[in-house]
Amino acid sequence: MEALIIRGGNPLYGDVPVYGAKNSILPLLAASLLVKGESTFENCPKLSDVDTSVDILRLLGARVEINERTITVCADEVESKEIPCDWMSKMRGSILFFGAMLSRFDEGKSCRPGGCPLGERPVDLHLFVMEQMGFSVIGCEEDFCCKRAEKKDKKRKFRLRIPSVGATENAILLAVLTPGETKIENAAREPEIGDLIAFLNKAGAKISGAGSKTLKIEGVSSLKGVRHRVISDRIAAGTYLLAAGTAGGSVTVKGIDESLLRAAMPPLREAGFLVETFPAEIKLTRKSRPLPFSKLSTSPYPGFPTDLLPQFMAVAAYAHGTTLFVDNVFENRFSHVPDLEQGGAEIDVAGNVALVYGKEKLFGMHAKAKDLRAGAALLLAALGAEGETVLTGVEHIDRGYERIEEIFCTLGGDVKRQKEE
Ligand code: UD1
Repeated sequence: MEALIIRGGNPLYGDVPVYGAKNSILPLLAASLLVKGESTFENCPKLSDVDTSVDILRLLGARVEINERTITVCADEVESKEIPCDWMSKMRGSILFFGAMLSRFDEGKSCRPGGCPLGERPVDLHLFVMEQMGFSVIGCEEDFCCKRAEKKDKKRKFRLRIPSVGATENAILLAVLTPGETKIENAAREPEIGDLIAFLNKAGAKISGAGSKTLKIEGVSSLKGVRHRVISDRIAAGTYLLAAGTAGGSVTVKGIDESLLRAAMPPLREAGFLVETFPAEIKLTRKSRPLPFSKLSTSPYPGFPTDLLPQFMAVAAYAHGTTLFVDNVFENRFSHVPDLEQGGAEIDVAGNVALVYGKEKLFGMHAKAKDLRAGAALLLAALGAEGETVLTGVEHIDRGYERIEEIFCTLGGDVKRQKEE
């Protein structure tokens, strides 16, 4: 058990490098199971979810080499058709490895995936996609045990009930080596999906429509190994910028283009922050106590990202007024609220809606991160708070942020990692 000890009150100044997106490298590593020869990924983040992905690949029999920020995978020798349940339960993204396994072997066995407790997180859309691609669930005790009788060379078209990121990625992974044409309607449009498509097309896939709601995939017989640079992590970048919003100061994120954070730009400016954008660089300066955001409501890309909502709430907790937050993606995006209230924040929650009444000051708290972005929000709130915060549940934060305490110390914050008894 580890904890972060945060002494709030220091303004933050300086630059933070942004590396590859967690939500991109996970599907890319899953996709490497479909490739003959070596897939090489550059700009990889060093995160525990990436370690878990590498462990799954190795467990299945892939050769994986890691050299600083470059990961090379050769899956030629993979024969296993089963992902053990304890690996599946470590993260939600493991369902993509299951999809890739089905795509490669036409069969596979595993359990339900784990992931952040953001409310009910069903897998019906993943199962729907598998079914549309010709798989049937066959009798076995585990949750997932799928097999495809034959890969029919035909045209198929299906529509996702909601534009799920993971289900869209699984549909792509399943269709790319299936003969004939697959049309996916109401597909998710997140940039990380564009990154997966860019990699697969480089490897020989025929996918069109990236960035739009309709994807068309012409199945190919094989994919070849290529090098690919992982797209930068827009959520990590947004989190570091918002830290200047709670703690004060001026933070520049380097290695990310403003276009990836377009939906977050208007509210940041509305709060009175000075936001300057340069090629592959964004700088945020807090000049005075933030103004409240007008209603912040999440929706799938290109809408405002659900993964930044808790961090914006941390800023709103210090604002000069009241902000209404609505999360339209997950049922429970507000697990950080009771801890923030312990630090003096005033927040009303009803279902997926929260009203944050800004306070001039918050105080140190004994907080526990219950999911990844909730952990980030608590850390941001603690950086601006008076006194000391002890933040446990750090393992959630490590899933998506690299050496977070070092980053904030470099900026002038006082954050230490400590082993808990
Ligand atoms: C991905 C991201 C996660 C982000 C989320 C939404 C990764 C590894 N994770 O998660 O950080 O918060 O997109 O941007 O990329 N749903 C169903 N049935 C399904 C699948 C999803 O009802 O079979 C629902 C979910 O419960 C949720 C909504 O669809 O309410 C969106 O989820 P989805 O886009 O699938 O999120 P993930 O891919 O799990």
